[in-house]
Amino acid sequence: MASHKLVHLLPIIVLITIPTGYVMASPPAIKAAYWPSWIETFPPSAIDTTLFTHIFYAFLLPSNVTFKFEVSDSTASQLKNFTGTLHQKNPPVKTLVSFGGGGSDPKLFARMVSNKGSRNIFIDSAIELARTYGFDGLDLDWEFPKNPEEMASLGQLFKEWRVAIKKEAKSTHRAPLLLTAAVYFSVDFQWNGIYRKYPVESIAESLDWVNAMCFDYRGSWDTSATGAHAALYDPNSNISTSYGLRSWVRAGVPRNMVVMGLPLYGRTWQLKDPKVNGIGAPATGVGPGDDGVLIFSEVEKFNKENGATVVYDAKTVSTYSYTGTSWIGYDDSQSTTVKLKFAQALGLRGYFFWALSYDSDWEISKQASRAWVIG
Ligand SMILES: *[C@@H]1O[C@H](CO)[C@@H](O)[C@H](O)[C@H]1NC(C)=O
Ligand SMILES: *[C@@H]1O[C@H](CO)[C@@H](O)[C@H](O)[C@H]1NC(C)=O
Ligand SMILES: *[C@@H]1O[C@H](CO)[C@@H](O)[C@H](O)[C@H]1NC(C)=O
Repeated sequence: MASHKLVHLLPIIVLITIPTGYVMASPPAIKAAYWPSWIETFPPSAIDTTLFTHIFYAFLLPSNVTFKFEVSDSTASQLKNFTGTLHQKNPPVKTLVSFGGGGSDPKLFARMVSNKGSRNIFIDSAIELARTYGFDGLDLDWEFPKNPEEMASLGQLFKEWRVAIKKEAKSTHRAPLLLTAAVYFSVDFQWNGIYRKYPVESIAESLDWVNAMCFDYRGSWDTSATGAHAALYDPNSNISTSYGLRSWVRAGVPRNMVVMGLPLYGRTWQLKDPKVNGIGAPATGVGPGDDGVLIFSEVEKFNKENGATVVYDAKTVSTYSYTGTSWIGYDDSQSTTVKLKFAQALGLRGYFFWALSYDSDWEISKQASRAWVIG
């Protein structure tokens, strides 16, 4: 254990040496998290706002027919309660409403962005929604545009959205709404044999920042071997957070517009052989949790109750635990801290968590807030 720690001090020290001139010029850091609106046991009042700068309401969808937001009475009161509560807190935080999410139909957005008329309707309705319910900004989480045409239309949407936001701010004499997007961990990717790349020019000129979803690299869709689902490094592939974040920077998105995603959950497997229990060990199925997913507080509970062995893996910068045939890959405070150093050394703007309420007594959220030393 002790020698393990020593080995890890070195990269941390190296990474901490950030060119200060650059740091001084950067805008305030983003320390964000998404709030899953369906978890009734975790109301907005439970959010510790000393740890965050921005909280995203997850999620809303426009009508799949009109592309307008048609908010029910119960959702309306929840939206008002969310912004009202978070703005009254000491310190207050900024609030954004996020549209879409991993579980929503990507074709809805594909249809909406495909022509100017429906883009306009969506944009105007989104701005009106934000103002009606007191949000500071808007976020699009479309998972995912499926080809170059959809990526081009997304770029068009962002440009028109920014124009509309500026216009509204001018005519109402209010601060412009923030505009952000949750995006794939990498700026470009091949999927189902189709190459696609995010519209970086439009993003750079239209958005405040992007939230890169640096997680879910492995999971229940491949049960042949265990994996670090949010590995910072992968010696064998480009599916890693370091590759993804650098790809955004290399493509020309300003560093201070890139925000690193951090998972507050693990992914689990059943080991084929309890004695072969590293990353990449043969597996036979998913392990504990809902479809092989355990939120961080459940991981800690599981480890404790089952006396699991916990290992920090420096090669991938991830944590895993195992007991019997159960195996969990996740991030704890230690691996999260190393990732934060990496993101700061790269000059990125900040980090966000998926998701609020998955932490264990704010353990990782607190450590992250302390570890992000700039901005
Ligand atoms: C729109 O949503 C409704 C309700 O979820 C669904 O039944 C319908 O098929 C959707 N329409 C389109 C065009 O996707
Ligand atoms: C939010 O809802 C809670 C629980 O119903 C209530 O106690 C609180 O006063 C509401 N806060 C705001 C700002 O609406
Ligand atoms: C990773 O991406 C680089 C380009 O960014 C490419 O040259 C290389 O072949 C890729 N490696 C793998 C293993 O796919």
